[in-house]
Amino acid sequence: MASYDLVVIGTGPGGYVCAVRAAQLGMKVAVVEKNATLGGTCLNVGCMPSKALLHASEMFEEAAHSFAKMGVSVSTPKLDLPAMMNFKQQGIDGNVKGVEFLMKKNKIDVLKGTGKILGAGKVEISGGGKSETVETKNIVIATGSDIARLKGIEIDEKRIVSSTGALSLEKVPEKMLIVGAGVIGLELGSVWRRLGAEVMVVEFLDRILPGMDGEVAKQFQRMLEKQGFVFKLGAKVTSVDTSGKTLSAKIEPAAGGAAEALEADVVLVCIGRVPYTEGLGLKEAGVALDNRGRVQIDAHFSTSVKGVYAIGDVVAGPMLAHKAEDEGVAVAEIIAGQAGHVNYDVIPGVVYTTPEVSSVGKTEEELKQAGVAYTVGKFPFTANGRSKVNQTTDGFVKILADAKTDRVLGVHIVGREAGEMIQEACVLMEFGGSAEDLARTCHAHPTRSEAVKEAALAVGKRAIHM
Ligand code: FAD
Ligand code: NAI
Repeated sequence: MASYDLVVIGTGPGGYVCAVRAAQLGMKVAVVEKNATLGGTCLNVGCMPSKALLHASEMFEEAAHSFAKMGVSVSTPKLDLPAMMNFKQQGIDGNVKGVEFLMKKNKIDVLKGTGKILGAGKVEISGGGKSETVETKNIVIATGSDIARLKGIEIDEKRIVSSTGALSLEKVPEKMLIVGAGVIGLELGSVWRRLGAEVMVVEFLDRILPGMDGEVAKQFQRMLEKQGFVFKLGAKVTSVDTSGKTLSAKIEPAAGGAAEALEADVVLVCIGRVPYTEGLGLKEAGVALDNRGRVQIDAHFSTSVKGVYAIGDVVAGPMLAHKAEDEGVAVAEIIAGQAGHVNYDVIPGVVYTTPEVSSVGKTEEELKQAGVAYTVGKFPFTANGRSKVNQTTDGFVKILADAKTDRVLGVHIVGREAGEMIQEACVLMEFGGSAEDLARTCHAHPTRSEAVKEAALAVGKRAIHM
């Protein structure tokens, strides 16, 4: 029987990063993966394919609507959807091969099949009619998450799709109905709207992007509406009639009331994701779950069974690839006897639309609720030189700092490249920096990042360009 120091079940960003870090620390490591390719949700049907389509569709829209005003004359761009899907697939393949390379480089064994925990120290891998059992000192569960489903609405991945189907539609729907105004709805809604679909988003709550700063979400909603998004807030889809040529969705106010019917060619259900623990044998092995079906862990990623750990989407916390990666590194270091740690106060979130939305730390609502006295510094991109010359002035930077200490508690950005701009705020916050620190840091000119510096200056009511 093969024997390891660590067996990681799942090769998403949590699992494969954990395996690499453990190998770096001298452990003999194997990963178990039931999918044909490595990389998990993120590389195969999540972050990476969605970003490829967001990029390609943004270029399509730019070519049609923005080139002419810059004096670049092109004939009306034509969509070649199979070629765009091929572009997406090339990106997936490249990244998946990259993970395979990392496994080889770090001498990590890849065991193909479904992993089942037979108890502390034993994992069974089965698939293709075969099964083998390996011994291991430690096990990390990194099995990720799956789509959440709506009762009574069956996802066929053709007309009623999850994000997976929405990443591979064969033609642009005339009308797309999206259930859920979260990250997936807004990102994939953007892709198909840019390619020509009429997009309507039905959201249960009375706002989009729950969890994000309220002011940011409100302004961002207006920007999306200008682009053509139609939002139906405080509403829910209760059924979808698939009998006709087009789908007919029944929509009801969240608080109850008269239902209305809406026609659509494609319905995208994106109402969140749920932890994935199927087939792992957790119950038999004695690994406890919490009341939301997530693997329960302590502050050191340890489950209720000694030597079995869990990380990523399958445990509590934001379902984000970088959170899974950081947990992967931390748990490998803990297993190696080091002090692995994740600072959950500084996990950025980005919505990769146009403009992008990024956020780190506390929102205004959270600070109010916690009774923390804070100061706000805001700076709009309309007053940022680089944004002005590029004529991409939508959005603003908002910095929330402790009223007494000036320590930065939260940074929220709507604007082009907001996902890149948030990183300096993350570094600042990791070091417990103040708005003054940020304001006194020299920022290259002309960059959009100068708006971050100006917002920090605005905390002290001394922005220069406003
Ligand atoms: P996963 O990536 O889900 O990987 C789990 C792996 O475990 C899978 O490969 C699965 O096959 C395998 N597995 C499960 N059970 C077993 C078993 N019993 N045996 C063997 N293998 C098993 N996050 C971001 O940070 N940025 C983004 O831009 C972003 N975009 C996204 C877009 C979409 C459309 C979706 C759906 C998600 C997106 N996410 C994004 C979220 C991100 O994909 C997840 O947070 C991340 O993949 C979680 O990583 P993980 O390692 O925990 O699990
Ligand atoms: P989400 O949690 O972001 O949004 C789901 C939305 O659906 C919420 O606004 C919720 O109020 C709404 N909703 C729930 N039930 C509903 C109902 N019955 N009717 C109408 N609306 C309903 O989940 P989403 O968009 O599915 O994404 C799943 C996960 O994937 C997220 O946790 C996210 O972190 C991750 N992800 C991250 C991305 C990024 O970082 N850029 C991109 C895409 C996904």
